[in-house]
Amino acid sequence: MKMNISITKTKNPKQKPDQNNLGFGTYFTDHMFIMDYTEGKGWHDPRIVPYAPLEMDPASMVFHYGQAIFEGLKAYKAKNGHILLFRPEKNMARVNSSNDRLVIPRIDEDFGVQAIKELVNVDSDWIPDAPGTSLYIRPFIIATDPFLGVRPSDTYKFIIILSPVGAYYKEGINPVKIYVESKYVRAVKGGLGFAKTVANYASSLKAQVEAKHSGYTQVLWLDGVEKKYIEEVGTMNVFFKIDGEVITPSLEGSILPGITRMSTIELLKKSGIKVTERRISIQELYDAHAAGKLDEAFGTGTAAVISPIGEFSWGEKVITVSNGKIGPVAQKVYDTITGIQNGELEDTFGWTQI
Ligand code: COI
Repeated sequence: MKMNISITKTKNPKQKPDQNNLGFGTYFTDHMFIMDYTEGKGWHDPRIVPYAPLEMDPASMVFHYGQAIFEGLKAYKAKNGHILLFRPEKNMARVNSSNDRLVIPRIDEDFGVQAIKELVNVDSDWIPDAPGTSLYIRPFIIATDPFLGVRPSDTYKFIIILSPVGAYYKEGINPVKIYVESKYVRAVKGGLGFAKTVANYASSLKAQVEAKHSGYTQVLWLDGVEKKYIEEVGTMNVFFKIDGEVITPSLEGSILPGITRMSTIELLKKSGIKVTERRISIQELYDAHAAGKLDEAFGTGTAAVISPIGEFSWGEKVITVSNGKIGPVAQKVYDTITGIQNGELEDTFGWTQI
C-alpha cells in the first residue's frame, strides 16, 4: 500500500522525564500517528500529529462494546546511534489476527511497520538510553461509529502512541510471587485469548487486584474449562525448566502467541536446550517440585521481557523455585534478548530492524 504520512510537528515540545525514574507507561512523547477507516474507502489519511486528547462521540462503539485491539513493542537507541525495533512485523501480523477475531478491517502490515518507524523517527529524542529503559510503542485500533446497536463498526481509528519506559514490575528482573488462580478464568478456546483484545485485559483485572491484595504480584492462569492446565502468568507467557527440559504451554486458542515467547523458544533451541510446547498441568508442576526437578519458572512478555517466578501459591500449598532467585536459563534469555534489542549483542537471528 503506497500512502504518504503527513507530518505536523508540535509547537510546544514537552519536557522529557528523568530517565532513571520512568516507571512504565506514565509519560508520552510529543507526537502520535493516526489513520482512519471508513467502510467503502478503506484506511485513509495517515498522519503524524502533536500528541493530544481525542475528541470522540460518547456513542462511539468502542465505549460500549469494546471493539478494540492493541499491540506493544519497543524501540532502542544503539550505541552507534541506530534506532532498533524488535520484530515489528510480528506485531503487525498479530494486529491482523486480532482484527480478524473482532471483525475489524485488516491493515497493510508493511505500512503499519512504516508508520511505527516514521513516528519513532519524529520522536527519536525521546528514546531513553539509561540501562533497562526503552521506548514502548503502543499501536491500537478502536471502533468509532456513534451507534448503540450491537454490530461491527463501519469506522475505526488506528493510533500509535509512544512512551519512554523503565521496568514493568517494580521487582525488575527479581523473582515475583504468583498466586495460582482457581476462581477466575482468563480465556477459553473459541474466545478471545489468542488475540490482543482490550477485553482480555479487562477480564483479568479482578484476579490481579485480589492477588495483589493478598501480597502476590500476579496470578497464574489455568485453563477455563477444567482449571487444571497452566496457560499464562499475569499478562505474560510462562516457561518452566523441569529435569533439564524447558516446557511452555502449547498455543491452543486461549493463549496469546507472544513475540518474546516465540523468540525465547527460537533462542533456547539454537543454544541446544530442549524446548517442548505442550499442555502442562498445575499438578505436574507441583509434582516436579516435590521430586526436586522444578529448576526454574519465568514469564516472557514485551513489557518486562523476562520475569522470573520465585514462589507459587496454589490453595494452601506454597512452593519456592530456584531458592527465590533468577535461574540461569531465565538470565541467559533476558541477557540475550535485551542485548539484541539494544544493539549490544550481534543479532544473529535477524530480529531487529532499523
Ligand atoms: C506484555 O508486554 O507483557 C504485556 O502484555 C503487558 C502490556 C499489556 C503492558
